[in-house]
Amino acid sequence: MSYYIGVDLGTSSVKLLLVDGDGRICGSVSREYPLLFPHPGWSEQDPACWWDAVKDGIGELTAGIDRSDVRGIGCGGQMHGLVALDERDAVIRPAILWNDGRTAEETAWLNTAVGKEKLSALTANIAFAGFTAPKLLWMRNKEPENFARIAKIMLPKDYINYKLTGVHSCDYSDASGMLLLDVENKCWSPEMLEICGMKQSQMPRLFESFEVIGTLLPDIAAQLGLPADVKVVAGAGDNAAAAVGTGTVGDGACNLSLGTSGTIFISSSKFGVDPNNALHAFAHADGRWHLMGCMLSAASCNKWFCDEVLKTTDYAAEQRDITDEKLGANRVFFLPYLMGERSPINDTDARGTFVGMTMDTSRADLVQAVLEGVAFAIRDSFEIAKSLGVPVDRSKICGGGAKSPLWRKIMANVLNIPLDIPQTEEGPGYGGAMLAMVGCGAYASVIDCADALVRVTETVEPDPAIAARYEAQYRKFRQIYPALKMVFPKLL
Ligand code: XUL
Repeated sequence: MSYYIGVDLGTSSVKLLLVDGDGRICGSVSREYPLLFPHPGWSEQDPACWWDAVKDGIGELTAGIDRSDVRGIGCGGQMHGLVALDERDAVIRPAILWNDGRTAEETAWLNTAVGKEKLSALTANIAFAGFTAPKLLWMRNKEPENFARIAKIMLPKDYINYKLTGVHSCDYSDASGMLLLDVENKCWSPEMLEICGMKQSQMPRLFESFEVIGTLLPDIAAQLGLPADVKVVAGAGDNAAAAVGTGTVGDGACNLSLGTSGTIFISSSKFGVDPNNALHAFAHADGRWHLMGCMLSAASCNKWFCDEVLKTTDYAAEQRDITDEKLGANRVFFLPYLMGERSPINDTDARGTFVGMTMDTSRADLVQAVLEGVAFAIRDSFEIAKSLGVPVDRSKICGGGAKSPLWRKIMANVLNIPLDIPQTEEGPGYGGAMLAMVGCGAYASVIDCADALVRVTETVEPDPAIAARYEAQYRKFRQIYPALKMVFPKLL
């Protein structure tokens, strides 16, 4: 028997999957950790919490098996977060996360003083507040003593890999979101490092996602009760890992993820850049490329509205009254910009907004508006892909939000494409385990592994009448943000 551990290092929790050599999920555990908002729009986490949660989770996950059967570990992780280590490899300050908006000034400087054209030529992307390079500039400007202590930087899942193996690594998919990687040539960009005041020696070593970076450190293996020859692969950014886990590999496949963030991910066998850089052009975990649009608050909008405003965790009960005839007929709209927004509007000042309420607006109308607002905002990125001539005629869907049948139906009708539901919604964790299988030689390539293991169990087809109503609704939604854009900075 062989087992592989897939780790999904998320924003609110880590989810670990135990997968056997036939791809069956034999166990899963999760551990939550706190997300810190030290100022409005800032978002931080303590890397020690991730590591404690992973260590503890692996212990529980493997409690019922013969641990000597574990062969490999692969991790998909929240992207872009800046983890800075000193010369003793101690964490210098809490990690600044992907949905942190503090770097508006540094982002603007990069996009104007360095210039979008140059950034795009060097890295295939422009600056967005959540990316890692603006965070380094922020640290250099605002915390020079901390910046001076940096011996190594890495991304969140790389910190877990470092603790497991002692190796400072990063894979190309995750490195793409740092704005420090020459994505096309898969190497650190010397010009970008210089712009950010960084040296090559401060950067982790680059790997393909399915490459083995090392084996467990002897004392870690002993602590976890695992064999010391367990292989750890470089892993991937969570979206690339989710794409692997849903079989979104090779040319032209699409995956939608409704997690804390919402993403549309289009895989490609060729390197290509969105000429307007509204979509990110990143490396993929299958060794090739992808285009991606990322909205900062997706399933988290519903979680916020239910948990914080309605004071309930029974999300299904809130959705029960939203019947088919109500879809596409809501008079209330919601802008889902609770953490500002990345794709495609790139506006850290944008805020969540309900518009169109009247005295007869119900609780269910507001819940529906939240689900629809997220779907419309994903459609904004989908429209950009279409305008680039990238055909998306169907998509996979995964993530916590995809567990809601209603939300899946709204998404299928707003985008007017069929949505395929894979057997497992645990995209990044399953993808992480698949990358470990490839690294351990169980499959020759990520594409072979996906062909062998990923199965679609259900397809949600759009309904022509509902899709037509949503088409009209989307045109209304499109007018709301431009009308409010100038107001948001005045609300800060
Ligand atoms: C992608 C992004 C988010 C995080 C969430 O660019 O920022 O999807 O990876 O974990």
